[in-house]
Amino acid sequence: MTALETERATADAAATGAAVKRGYVKQMFSDIAPHYDRVNRIISFRLDQWWRRKAIRDLNIARDPGATYLDLCAGTLDISSQIASLANFHGSVIAADFAEPMLRAGLRKVSRDVVRPVTADALDLPFIDGFAAGAIVVFGIRNVVDLDAALREVYRVLRPGARFVILEFGVTQNPLVGWIYRLYFNHLCPLIGNAVARHHSAYNYLPKSVAHFPSESDLAQRMRDAGFESVRWRSYTFGVVAIHIGEKH
Ligand SMILES: C[S@@+](CC[C@H](N)C(=O)[O-])C[C@H]1O[C@@H](n2cnc3c(N)ncnc32)[C@H](O)[C@@H]1O
Repeated sequence: MTALETERATADAAATGAAVKRGYVKQMFSDIAPHYDRVNRIISFRLDQWWRRKAIRDLNIARDPGATYLDLCAGTLDISSQIASLANFHGSVIAADFAEPMLRAGLRKVSRDVVRPVTADALDLPFIDGFAAGAIVVFGIRNVVDLDAALREVYRVLRPGARFVILEFGVTQNPLVGWIYRLYFNHLCPLIGNAVARHHSAYNYLPKSVAHFPSESDLAQRMRDAGFESVRWRSYTFGVVAIHIGEKH
């Protein structure tokens, strides 16, 4: 095989792998959609909603409460509904996700006048450049097959001055907490999640996807590489989760 043929074969294999992962993720979230919220509350001891409130605060909607915001990988609309219920908010939220059953499962939480669900892939958003005053992705970007392309796509649809907030699982630095956390997250969560969601593998995927996700400093660098400026992050709950913030200048 020539060097060019090897390069092409490697690229083809990578594309096939990405397509398989994309299909798996989409199907898996579609399957667990009716149980998704319940499992989240149980396995996070209801901390998930508190983390979401922290991330929304970082979006700083008060700066422009009448504008349009993007909730990417919106799932069952927890973030969109929390934004919509902010006291001063009179704008709109575009809630984009490629698994329609997830969006459908969240519809009862929102008014369609304020939150507009859109079935869309994070890698190919059907929106014009600069339409959003801010964007947020919560426990979602880890699942997208091409992180860098997703970051560039979010950058494209943000207007200058907009913020981008990412809430994701982090790397806990405390050895004791880390040990307990790994035991719980890698072994107990999949048991609880798969039992409650009646799915044989969805919650085995969760710790694997977190293990493959970049560290906090790596993610910050990848955001900078995509064009974001003033990138910073904060950890919560002993580093179990981290919130990254970047700006489009
Ligand atoms: C763990 S859920 C997070 C949902 C929600 N943001 C939350 O706070 O609970 C991840 C979501 O990302 C969506 N997702 C994964 N890859 C995607 C992609 N490439 N484009 C759009 N949505 C995607 C999944 O369908 C799923 O609803």
